[in-house]
Amino acid sequence: SEPYETILVERKGRTALLTLNRPEALNALNLRVMEEVVAATRELDRDPEVGCLVLTGSAKAFAAGADIKEMEPRQYLDMYLSDWFAAWDRLGQLRTPTVAAVSGYALGGGCELAMLCDVLLAADTAVFGQPEIKLGVIPGIGGSQRLTRAVGKAKAMELCLTGRTMDAEEAERAGLVSRIVPAGELLAEALAVAETIAGMSAPVAMMAKEAVNRSFETTLAEGVRFERRLFHAVFATADQKEGMRAFSEKRPPEFRHG
Ligand code: CAA
Repeated sequence: SEPYETILVERKGRTALLTLNRPEALNALNLRVMEEVVAATRELDRDPEVGCLVLTGSAKAFAAGADIKEMEPRQYLDMYLSDWFAAWDRLGQLRTPTVAAVSGYALGGGCELAMLCDVLLAADTAVFGQPEIKLGVIPGIGGSQRLTRAVGKAKAMELCLTGRTMDAEEAERAGLVSRIVPAGELLAEALAVAETIAGMSAPVAMMAKEAVNRSFETTLAEGVRFERRLFHAVFATADQKEGMRAFSEKRPPEFRHG
């Protein structure tokens, strides 16, 4: 991969770890970060040796939002013609499962970036919020939509309208994060979750992800039908035979990702 300026990319077996690395700005998401995260994750997504991506920041900040200083002087036409933030959509379109490991601040674009990932693990130090309103703006990377789907209207409205933040406990109670982990164990736990996912059949994991994501885009009847068709499709894989045979033979499966 190319030399990146604002992110670090490491490979650990079938897991790729992407660390936001702009400590001087609490990992504020400027255009460079967006371009690098999108380019790196797209490359990893195409690599058959990568079965899961972990996205993390620093102990103090997953990301403290989009870069306010970069946006401050912009005019409407700039924003519209460049379709500012649109490239972040690509992160949600990755086929490889993604795990966000959130420690410290996940505010504004940082919270939105975490919500673009499939599994969201929080350190007990995590702080989530959409404080854009305090800057005279609104969320722009899907926060008003994904936070509402994740935690419901009551909390999403309050957070988006007052800018108040949620700690990890509240975020877990509300269903924004799947689990809370002590801060010192966050990365190890996220990598363990990723390794578990990466050990599953890659195409089957992609189908599971696609099926869950479909629920946000369609009716229940159509979603159930979509799931059933994918369920039928897994019977075209060798991994289905291997997984079910291994169960009968009381041994761990050896998936070949096909
Ligand atoms: N953009 C640009 N720079 C940022 C930033 C951001 N979102 N967040 C922090 N920084 C910078 C600070 O300006 C500071 O830089 P300097 O040292 O050059 O002054 C550095 O990071 C360290 O930050 P603080 O000194 O503020 O650290 P703190 O510990 O005192 O406070 C904080 C931490 C409460 C998170 C505070 O930094 C803060 O409120 N940040 C902004 C949070 C925010 O409003 N996020 C939403 C951004 S808008 C958005 O995201 C739009 C969208 O929908 C995508």
